[in-house]
Amino acid sequence: MDVPKIVVTPPGPKAREILERDSKVISPSYVRFYPLVVERGEGSLLYDVDGNVYIDLNSGLGVMNVGHAHPEVVEAIKRQAEKLLHYSNTDFYYEESVKFAEKLVSIAPGNFGKKVFFSNSGTESVEAAIKLARWRTKRQYVIGFIGAFHGRTYGSLSITSSKPVQRAGFSPLVPGIVHVPYPYSYRCPFGASPDDPEECANRTIAFIEDWVFGKFVPPEEVAAFIFEPIQGEGGYIVPPENFIPQLRKLANEHGILLIDDEVQAGMGRTGKWWAIQHFGVDPDILTSAKALGGGLPIGATIAREDVMTWPGGSHASTFGGNPVSCASGLATINVIEREKLVERAAALGDKVMKLLNEWKEKYEIVGDVRGKGLMIGIEIVKDKTSRKKAPDLAQEIMMRAWKSGVAIITAGVNALRIFPPLNIEEEYLFKALEIVEDKIREVS
Ligand SMILES: Cc1ncc(COP(=O)(O)O)c(C=O)c1O
Repeated sequence: MDVPKIVVTPPGPKAREILERDSKVISPSYVRFYPLVVERGEGSLLYDVDGNVYIDLNSGLGVMNVGHAHPEVVEAIKRQAEKLLHYSNTDFYYEESVKFAEKLVSIAPGNFGKKVFFSNSGTESVEAAIKLARWRTKRQYVIGFIGAFHGRTYGSLSITSSKPVQRAGFSPLVPGIVHVPYPYSYRCPFGASPDDPEECANRTIAFIEDWVFGKFVPPEEVAAFIFEPIQGEGGYIVPPENFIPQLRKLANEHGILLIDDEVQAGMGRTGKWWAIQHFGVDPDILTSAKALGGGLPIGATIAREDVMTWPGGSHASTFGGNPVSCASGLATINVIEREKLVERAAALGDKVMKLLNEWKEKYEIVGDVRGKGLMIGIEIVKDKTSRKKAPDLAQEIMMRAWKSGVAIITAGVNALRIFPPLNIEEEYLFKALEIVEDKIREVS
């Protein structure tokens, strides 16, 4: 199939009509990347209401790891919907949630017993994680990282710190949250050279020990560190190899739990089931959502069984672990396993990185490329020497690519994310990248 295909400059007339109606009834708090009005999705392709066909480089914000409308996922949803739509798993029992939890426990990192709390979204999986960490340790502080995005309900919002608008006007937030810089080695907050990422991690850990623990937060009152193994909304930032292992060590020294937020990076995306597996560390609590349900809403908080010991009634959710979402999630994992999508993400990711590293050589505005598997960020800058962020250029590249049929989006303020379905046809992926490169060349 010859894709992408733009038959009318988007937004076309049907899209414009829907945008107009949307503006009258939908909350203005949403920020849409561009006025794309989707009608149908199939595999890695999106069809808009005016007949344009796009290549999806963002997987519906990281949800469609197995592509749109995967027949096996759709079939599992239909089968389950006809059998049982709902029966509050936190008040009664059904097998679908048990089957799904058994599968998750078997693929989650750590050679120890685990238990699963089901919710409906990423933010709820984080809420459960921080409540559990506080409950289990009876300690008040949670240490999060600047640039992180963990969600928008009050607990997770209190840790989220990727854009001021997310927090502005909503205080007071939950107390007991302490923020420290993330080792963003291309722009190390502690002044280490971009060529020495490990030094950036060392300085971050030293800052926590000397300035946080040493000055105002007694480590014996810290319940958890919460972090993204690759920061997503913050700009697709991969931490230095030695960072998470050092954080694990520090946590062990002080009886602090490690919460690994894999809502965006998990489910095979990075070429391992979970991004933390690149760093050889097992978390105490892991959160997952987005791709977990194959397109249906579900969140999971997976914890060591000796951590998830809270009593009946302490935390629950009417819809959490809905049977249809569980059936869809299980089918999604089966597809990832059978189609070997974890391995594919790794192999295809390597090819993409090779190409993007050539762009870095060729274009002055491509400051940094980084990522693992098919979670890749391209940081757009004014020039390589100043490394000054160029959000206007990133935005322009995104808009031009979209108008040419590539649904690519930004991360942070000035990174472009390459985040396609893991089973995207290689031909489509490289066609989309060719278009993105054209746009980079044009705006350069
Ligand atoms: C790492 C991470 N955690 C949590 C969330 C919140 O997920 P949700 O939007 O499903 O509440 C997101 C969403 O982007 C995320 O990227």
